[in-house]
Amino acid sequence: ARHLLGIEPLSPTDITSILDLAESYVDLNRRTIKHADALQGMTQINMFFENSTRTQSSFELAGKRLGADVMNMAMAQSSVKKGETLIDTALTLNAMHPDLLVVRHPQSGAVNLLAEKVNCAVLNAGDGRHEHPTQALLDALTIRRSKGRLHRLTVAICGDIVHSRVARSNLILLGKMENRVRLCGPATLMPAGAGDLGVEVYQDMREALDGADVVMMLRLQKERMDGGFIPSEREYYHRWGLDAEKLSHAKPDAIVMHPGPMNRGVEIDGTIADDINRSVIQDQVEMGVAVRMAAMDMLARNLRAERGARASEGV
Ligand code: CP
Repeated sequence: ARHLLGIEPLSPTDITSILDLAESYVDLNRRTIKHADALQGMTQINMFFENSTRTQSSFELAGKRLGADVMNMAMAQSSVKKGETLIDTALTLNAMHPDLLVVRHPQSGAVNLLAEKVNCAVLNAGDGRHEHPTQALLDALTIRRSKGRLHRLTVAICGDIVHSRVARSNLILLGKMENRVRLCGPATLMPAGAGDLGVEVYQDMREALDGADVVMMLRLQKERMDGGFIPSEREYYHRWGLDAEKLSHAKPDAIVMHPGPMNRGVEIDGTIADDINRSVIQDQVEMGVAVRMAAMDMLARNLRAERGARASEGV
């Protein structure tokens, strides 16, 4: 494929290939290994129309590890502020002949639309409530390294499901790899028809966590809520925040995940988030660089093959 816009088009073999390639970039000290020839001579532009700490910095580091010329567009200081549209901005950057565009945007579907207008490979770094494919891939690699497999696991994804592109990409990936996925959260934060997605739906955390191998907590995405919120944060923490008592219902060796940024004391107890015997939150960040290296390396190979084929056809 030319782009990585979501998990939906990937087969289980594609997913395993990306994770294996990412694994090959991680050394025994869990640091990523430099492969400066992979994207040598290629240009990567990062366009983040929404805030980011983990995704933007790890895409930048991944591009540099692979030898690309990496440019971070400061979207808040760009001509978008003068009214330039997403497509005009993309076409302007496209005219500078980048090879890889990494895009985060608040509108679901905006990255797919942009991908239709440019000549380079596009990687979705999160679009609205739609998908965040590299997050699901780094979560999958973290699970595989911790549990030794990525199939026949019970994974509880808990919290603000309806606004979460992380939940969406994860439930698609985990389903493709034949895991049992449970969604848990307040009814107001559960998508309509969630039960038709091949998952089990719960409102009670203790039932959702019962016998789970993986507990994945999500941030309350207040920036996507238009007034119709839920109880107070205190009430939310009481019912859906992960504390020691709720976690005791999961398997004794269950791992705890959170994509970040996290609200301690709202969706997760800070002591659990920091417990290196249970929490793999820092491992998720570590795997982010390797997975983004693998995704860009794979797309760069496809791009080179596509360009080579066009050149040999004289196009
Ligand atoms: N998990 C995630 O996407 O984090 P950032 O918003 O900091 O990139």
